[in-house]
Amino acid sequence: MTLADLEFTPEDMRRMGEAVVRRVVDHLATIQQQPVRGDVDAADLCRAMREPAPEQGSALEPLLDSLFNDWIPRTFNTASPGYLAYIPGGGVFPGALADLISSGVNRYTGVWLTAPALVQLEANVLDWMREWMQFPASTRGLFTTGGSKANFTAIICARERKLGTELRRGTLYLSTETHHSVAKSARLAGILPDRVRTIPVDGEYRMRADALEDAIARDRAQGLMPFLVVSSAGTTNTGAVDPLREIAALCRREGLWHHVDGAYGASFHLCPELRPLLAGLSEADSLTLDPHKGLFIPYGTGALLVRDGDALRAAHSESASYMPENRDDDEFYDPHQYGPDLSRGFPGLRVWLSFKLFGAARYRAAIAEKRALALDAAQRIAALPHVVMDAPPQLSLFAFHLEWPGASLAAQDAATRELLERVTRRGRVMITGCHAGGRFLARVCVLSFRTHATHMDTCVEHIAEEAQAIVAREL
Ligand SMILES: Cc1ncc(COP(=O)(O)O)c(C=O)c1O
Repeated sequence: MTLADLEFTPEDMRRMGEAVVRRVVDHLATIQQQPVRGDVDAADLCRAMREPAPEQGSALEPLLDSLFNDWIPRTFNTASPGYLAYIPGGGVFPGALADLISSGVNRYTGVWLTAPALVQLEANVLDWMREWMQFPASTRGLFTTGGSKANFTAIICARERKLGTELRRGTLYLSTETHHSVAKSARLAGILPDRVRTIPVDGEYRMRADALEDAIARDRAQGLMPFLVVSSAGTTNTGAVDPLREIAALCRREGLWHHVDGAYGASFHLCPELRPLLAGLSEADSLTLDPHKGLFIPYGTGALLVRDGDALRAAHSESASYMPENRDDDEFYDPHQYGPDLSRGFPGLRVWLSFKLFGAARYRAAIAEKRALALDAAQRIAALPHVVMDAPPQLSLFAFHLEWPGASLAAQDAATRELLERVTRRGRVMITGCHAGGRFLARVCVLSFRTHATHMDTCVEHIAEEAQAIVAREL
């Protein structure tokens, strides 16, 4: 072997692959016993880890030792069944297999001509999503790295379609509860903060369509060009679903683009019986889905659907003399013409392999189970003494706070914050909080495929015990 030879023998590859698979499987086999939040007070560890690039290679096993024994445990355990923080997902095993395959064979899936059948797999998955979301045949989509990039791409499409060169006159509408990736994406897309309008929400944290209509009228009267409303199919704070149908109708009347951020909630549309909860979602001009949340795929898998597929293509299509000629027929999906990337990974394989192995029926059952678990847990938590349920589950997320006679708002906020910290410190269940409606709320989001009734029993039990201890001290 010369110094320049970077190939392994088949035997070495097999041995190394088996070593990695063994570690991953051992890790997953004990995921229930591992703390839901590792020790992330790790500044000293991170400082100690800084090192120059190694001049010589080393063996695999010591590297795996460091990863699996020292570094992976010191994280939020987002793969744990007790992870009810932020927006979970879990990361199904077929997603990991897909990554091994796609990195192993390393084919070029940015251009149809270079890997037509592999690109077709991604096109199939985008088409499955289109059908689940009940979007029309004119729709085209794009895999992204996550919901943030999908929101960004939607804003670009709307900007191109509705504003053209009138960038400074365009105004964009979101709510006080919209995910911060939307404001960030607007800025990146050249829509500066003074052209972003924040619409108030109602008592259930949903964007107020009447206030939206007023804001649009005010901007028109100022000579501005309202062009885009971003609504939420499930907000991050409280899981609220905006009045999507009403907003869609308003956007049609006013000639605005309606983007729905379904990063958290869109997957519930897979279940026909839950579609009424998301009424109007199918009427959007574009929709963000986040398979690494509600489709339980590993991180790095977002998606966007655009009703007018030509708009997505017009925003991204380019040609160059060294590139294969762009196909001008529409039969075969060509990813680089629909998104900003040329060379890219193969995210669609994760979703394709997962759905092929499980089948959509098991997926629907898992998604419906998450909602049922949330409804049941929310009911039990709402019945606890000193708990006030601020946001019952519209999908599978609920938010609440602690309250007792004579307590100031600051004391309630502090107690609620203490509650989620104490529950999380017990190691089995992790929950996080948010500010909404002028106070601090604890929130529980049930969306990991690994979360089942027994984990929710633990969640309710630990919240009950810790709430009781905190309030008893205060009374
Ligand atoms: C409603 C909503 N939109 C967008 C995002 C951003 O998605 P991502 O983290 O995949 O970029 C999130 C993330 O939690 C979200 O909850």
